[in-house]
Amino acid sequence: MTTQIDIERIRAETPGLINVVHLLASGSALMPTPVIDAIMNHTLLEAEIGGYEAHDRQAGMLDKVYESAAKLIGAKRHEIALLENATAAWCQAFYALPLKPKSRILTCEAEYAANYVAFLHRAKRDDLIIEVVPSDATGAVDIAALERAMGDDVGLISLTWVPTNGGLVNPAAEVGKIARKYDVPFLLDACQAAGQMQIDVNTLGCDFLSATGRKFLRGPRGTGFLYVREKWLETIEPAMIDHFGAPWVARDRYELRKDARRFETWENSYALRAGLGAAFDYVETIGIDVIEARVTALAKHCRDLLSQCSNILVRDIGTKQCGIVSFTTEGGNPAKIVSQMREAGFAIGASASSSTRLDAERRNLPTVLRIAPHYYNTEDEIERCVKQLQAYI
Ligand SMILES: Cc1ncc(COP(=O)(O)O)c(C=O)c1O
Repeated sequence: MTTQIDIERIRAETPGLINVVHLLASGSALMPTPVIDAIMNHTLLEAEIGGYEAHDRQAGMLDKVYESAAKLIGAKRHEIALLENATAAWCQAFYALPLKPKSRILTCEAEYAANYVAFLHRAKRDDLIIEVVPSDATGAVDIAALERAMGDDVGLISLTWVPTNGGLVNPAAEVGKIARKYDVPFLLDACQAAGQMQIDVNTLGCDFLSATGRKFLRGPRGTGFLYVREKWLETIEPAMIDHFGAPWVARDRYELRKDARRFETWENSYALRAGLGAAFDYVETIGIDVIEARVTALAKHCRDLLSQCSNILVRDIGTKQCGIVSFTTEGGNPAKIVSQMREAGFAIGASASSSTRLDAERRNLPTVLRIAPHYYNTEDEIERCVKQLQAYI
């Protein structure tokens, strides 16, 4: 276990820990005090002097959120758009991409439900073909199969880096290499990765990356962001625009903003953005490398403990595994176990097969239970959680 982390300070700055042993960062993590303060302060300022006036007064701080997001993922500030969640961010990129009829979308078995229904939607509307690249023996997307699937008619590679239903970390950078080699747009869903692991868009080779605020980033609900590689800003038109993303410069003309904020609209929750900015800064004060090491170690500890229980089956796949631990139990019903655990003071989650249908069908998975520790958790909390679980199986 890494010792570089000031766990006492971090726990003192996480007020929710008084009420709950929270082990569900893959759902919505506990916000730290600076995030809560940023949201509250901005909201109070809006009440005290007015929404527009508060916005003006906090303009510098609100502007810095783009810089902080960019820094976290190795991007440039003008490549960032702030949106209300990861799905909105992902959809902005996906629906903006011009895809010719009969072109193929290559995706993986871990793809998230929201993304896949959008594929189905555009496949129906725009006459596209969805092709699922199989997984390799470890459960990760098969890179050799992806390369074999490449061809002139591939319009997009879309990958979920870390799925919602378990610890798998797909080899996103390897996928990015293939996307670059064949010059095909690469859209990366980094929703479950952001805040728990190091992200560098240049190493990843992605053209677009979407993420949410409320999960491992510890930001508020209702926040997310999109990364758009600079080169796309010369050509890409959002599927929908307003006069913020595309100012109305003459009766018959709009001009798209030069930056990724063309994907945003005029009205936003600035209090939540302030909170998201504080969340980025909080990650920086701890260090994403330190966070990654601790989250990975805590999750491994959890997996090891669960594996020792004869009535529990750990379901995580892949060689590289992250902070999400998935498992099924011999007895008990997942939804009931989650609510029983909640009553006992433990927040864990369940993930239905329909969230990751392809993977669930391939592995014949029922609803799985999820434990996703964050760096503010302790080994003792995990041990108590696993012990408590036994009461309901
Ligand atoms: C892998 C993955 N992608 C995308 C999303 C969607 O994120 P949001 O709810 O912020 O739109 C989730 C949410 O759980 C997810 O797990």
